[in-house]
Amino acid sequence: MIELAGLTKRYGSFTAVSGIDLVVPRGELFGLLGPNGAGKTTSLRMIAGILQPTAGTVRIAGIDLARDPVAAKSQLGFIPDRPFIYEKLSGMEFLRFVAGLYGQSGSSTDRRARELLALFDLEPWRDELVESYSHGMRQKLIIASAFVHRPAVIVVDEPMVGLDPKAARILKDLFREYTRRGHTIMMSTHTLEVAETLCDRIAIVQGGRIRAEGTMAELRATAAAGATGLEDIFLRLTGERAARELLAVLDA
Ligand SMILES: Nc1ncnc2c1ncn2[C@@H]1O[C@H](COP(=O)(O)OP(=O)(O)OP(=O)(O)O)[C@@H](O)[C@H]1O
Ligand SMILES: [Mg+2]
Repeated sequence: MIELAGLTKRYGSFTAVSGIDLVVPRGELFGLLGPNGAGKTTSLRMIAGILQPTAGTVRIAGIDLARDPVAAKSQLGFIPDRPFIYEKLSGMEFLRFVAGLYGQSGSSTDRRARELLALFDLEPWRDELVESYSHGMRQKLIIASAFVHRPAVIVVDEPMVGLDPKAARILKDLFREYTRRGHTIMMSTHTLEVAETLCDRIAIVQGGRIRAEGTMAELRATAAAGATGLEDIFLRLTGERAARELLAVLDA
């Protein structure tokens, strides 16, 4: 459902994403991990069609995003890490607005919007303006908006940030159920526990390249002997220097 070939983004002489090749099949929940600045957000923005690649191609459901952006994007829902929401819309109006962008409206859309709001405990706030929402409430509304038009592919950048434990749990269940029904999700996260328990496959990105990719079992085999949990694997693949440097700073 998502095919990346040689995906590259350069800013001047700096290469943020360097020739990523990746195939995510239908029904898979795929996780992108990597240190700060690894190129996760840049990659996800290119996959969502809001950032132009310097080179390489993105195909969504077999459709080349550069050749037919409207058709490719109609298959997509995107949850950015720093979302923009119109402050002067109510939660319900925002969901109607997003569904409308995808040509969906009417009673079945409204019903779905209400169900999503109820799922995230936003029903009492349905008709309140977004400007009165807390950080987590906005995050939940943005997540709901990616599901309202039931896209085949959802691309999501660090969805767990700012969610309370209950909302985080609901989100995990929602992601799992959505992929079980044959939809595809690609997410980035820094929460290794989330990646480990939720994702079917994981790619560890560093310096704009995929350093390792596979199921947890495959990653375990890739990392040096003795690495069992994802934290071990992640630190081995991306460098464990930080802890030692921290001690040096504290001892100085
Ligand atoms: N508009 C831009 N101009 C110049 N450099 C940029 C721009 N956007 C991103 N970069 C650089 O590209 C690299 C990758 O950034 P990106 O936001 O993709 O990282 P990330 O993996 O999402 O990191 P984080 O975990 O902190 O969210 C960083 O070095 C960043 O400084
Ligand atoms: Mg990021």
